[in-house]
Amino acid sequence: MNVDATHTIALDKAHHVHPQSNLRQHAENGPTMITHGKGVYVYDDQGNEIMDGFSGLGCMSLGYHNERLANAAVRQMNTLPFAPTFYNRSHPRVAELCGRLTKLAPGDMTRALIQCSGSEANDTAIKLLWYTNTAKGQPERRKVIGRIRGYHGNTVATASLSGQPHMHAKFGLPLPEFKHTELPNYYRFHIDGETEEEFSARMAKSFEDLILAEGPDTIAAFFAEPAISGGGALMPPKGYWEEMQAVIRKYNITFLVDEVVTGFGRTGNRWGSETWNLKPDMVTCAKALSAAFFPVSALMFRDDFYADMMKNSDEMGTFGHGYTYAGHPVGAAVSLEALDIYDEIDLVGHVRKVSKGFLEKCYAMQDHPLVAEVRGVGLFCGFELMKDVKTREPFDPSWKVGELVQNFAHDRGLYLRAIGDRMSFMPPLIINDDEIEIATERFKGALDDAWAVVRGKI
Ligand SMILES: Cc1ncc(COP(=O)(O)O)c(C=O)c1O
Repeated sequence: MNVDATHTIALDKAHHVHPQSNLRQHAENGPTMITHGKGVYVYDDQGNEIMDGFSGLGCMSLGYHNERLANAAVRQMNTLPFAPTFYNRSHPRVAELCGRLTKLAPGDMTRALIQCSGSEANDTAIKLLWYTNTAKGQPERRKVIGRIRGYHGNTVATASLSGQPHMHAKFGLPLPEFKHTELPNYYRFHIDGETEEEFSARMAKSFEDLILAEGPDTIAAFFAEPAISGGGALMPPKGYWEEMQAVIRKYNITFLVDEVVTGFGRTGNRWGSETWNLKPDMVTCAKALSAAFFPVSALMFRDDFYADMMKNSDEMGTFGHGYTYAGHPVGAAVSLEALDIYDEIDLVGHVRKVSKGFLEKCYAMQDHPLVAEVRGVGLFCGFELMKDVKTREPFDPSWKVGELVQNFAHDRGLYLRAIGDRMSFMPPLIINDDEIEIATERFKGALDDAWAVVRGKI
């Protein structure tokens, strides 16, 4: 390690507050310091090459080096580095991006609000639901339903909406308007003998029971990721979305589909909504929208929703919401360039092509003694680790088996993400067959390493 690396690690340890991290561990061990990246690899300050099997945070669609994106940012910075979108002001790039995104979006979206993060997009959606329900004369429609283990962001509202216990406890969350329906993890939670379809029907029944218990007229919306990401790369079971959408329609509930992770090719289609035939009323996206080269997100909806916003704006004289960096010109320019690149390289086609080998290699790991179930789509795969595959007995959480696999994978040069005892594997969308081979070999090696530790305890 050179002097500079020692210095920055000391600074980081002393001053940098790390999100979603174990603070004690950081105080003791400091950070893993990543210095640069190329393709699907990142490099740490010790010169180690690590393949990124988690795409940064599910966002590095084009990997870690792209001159076109870098040049698009520089060009825009040299032309117009910032322009407010408040007070009816605009600039060409953001107008182009809104036109293009609303055309691409699932559903009949006509309007887009461009901000910086998935959290901001979802948080704004919640505010706008409340805002438009007031315009409709239904101010009591304030409750928002998410799912246990769902993940929609970290603002007060979106952390409330997320179903992540560690993001609620100690923060005094969730706020009272936020409710959570069940986690559709068929393998873990099905009753013996229950088919996937029966399980899905039970999930939908439980969702309907929640709506009825809360009062359908008090529900503003249901928010869901097409496949749960932050909760551990969990694919919907058979029949799940048909059953859930029937309940959504029955009670005329606004359906917001959070495409923050699934947007732009992750599931082998441009949108997760296409993969699972979802009919959203509102859509959010971020991450791969700019290939994560700049913080950009979008919230999209239809003109009927905009008409209600207009009513309030007429009454108040303005639409009382906005972030300084909304519609940032550099973010818009980078996003437009990313969308061009996706089309030119046919990124969705590429994901479909490599997905076959990726999933085959993932499914082959189901034979490993630590692995109970593997399920994926596109370049998105979840692994359930279990002590006893047949009885579905989980590991003692204090063994931290998922974390063990994650750490061994890191030692072997592969980033994976453990969410409890679920492993999430979602490499950059540009990954090729050879790199998939390397990644899955490292993953298997990490499972073997972890098994060598765990076997003795069983
Ligand atoms: C599905 C989903 N929605 C929203 C978010 C929040 O996005 P951000 O971290 O950009 O605020 C995330 C973040 O990982 C996510 O996975």
